[in-house]
Amino acid sequence: MNTTTEKAYAKINISLDVTAKRPDGYHDMLMVMQTVSLCDDIEVSLVENQRSSATCNLHFVPTDERNLAVKAAEKFFKAAGIEGRGALIKMHKLIPVGAGMAGGSADAAAVLRALNRLCGRPFDEKALCDLAGEVGSDVPFCIAGGTMLATGRGEILSPLPELPHCSIVICKPEFSTSTPELFRKLDAIKLRCHPDTNGIIEALESGDLVKLSRRMYNVFEDVPDRRHSTIAEIKSTMLDCGAMGSIMTGTGSAVFGIFSDDAAAQGACEKLKKEFKLCYTAKDQPRLEV
Ligand code: C5P
Repeated sequence: MNTTTEKAYAKINISLDVTAKRPDGYHDMLMVMQTVSLCDDIEVSLVENQRSSATCNLHFVPTDERNLAVKAAEKFFKAAGIEGRGALIKMHKLIPVGAGMAGGSADAAAVLRALNRLCGRPFDEKALCDLAGEVGSDVPFCIAGGTMLATGRGEILSPLPELPHCSIVICKPEFSTSTPELFRKLDAIKLRCHPDTNGIIEALESGDLVKLSRRMYNVFEDVPDRRHSTIAEIKSTMLDCGAMGSIMTGTGSAVFGIFSDDAAAQGACEKLKKEFKLCYTAKDQPRLEV
């Protein structure tokens, strides 16, 4: 077998806190992360004597080494000591780009899982996560996903009890945010509020979706940005339609809402679609076996 397929699941941040700026320029994070069923489809084929390359259904996505999936493939072969081989990566993207949903990281992680399988599993899950950390801060989480507490740059992961089953509505406004720029803007302000991460972990331990939804919080929403009135509008619509909680994910610009009722989630999605093109319903996605 030298072709395989993988689903690359998007992530949402149930909470996102930035705890310190580090000497290496990165920031220390404290995040509860969750994979959702919204995903890209990735096909990976092994080829002889060719560099790794990608194709994508979206014309504006770069398909050279700037693409994290291509970067991941090159790192994989180097770390595994495999010479004279490359990966042909076909990407069919559904996860909105520039949304804070780790779409590029999920694609890179899917390529690492696929190549590991195609090449006879040279890496165990821990080694694959270490390799993923060299590709990007969110890539280790995307290797197995599920419900995780992420610290450090985002690469130090501890499993949490699974998110209770729910419907998740995702809405991406037209604008996108630049991650490095948002971190720079965050450095210029003093954060006054932080998420109650322990409260969220307790809510997961007791399977209490109401308690969890009330505590969802993302400090990036506190960075002054005039476009955040659009974020506020989407959140209000989600709540008006019955969401138990709604926040922006990652560095945005996508917003999600948690619903216990599938019909209410569908209603929210339809209402938001009247104003925003990129709206989706999804489910919580459990951790993958790697
Ligand atoms: O690790 P990754 O390449 O995804 O990070 C992109 C950028 O986001 C970094 O160059 C840095 O500016 C910022 N970042 C950060 N702290 C983190 C993760 C990312 O400052 N924990």
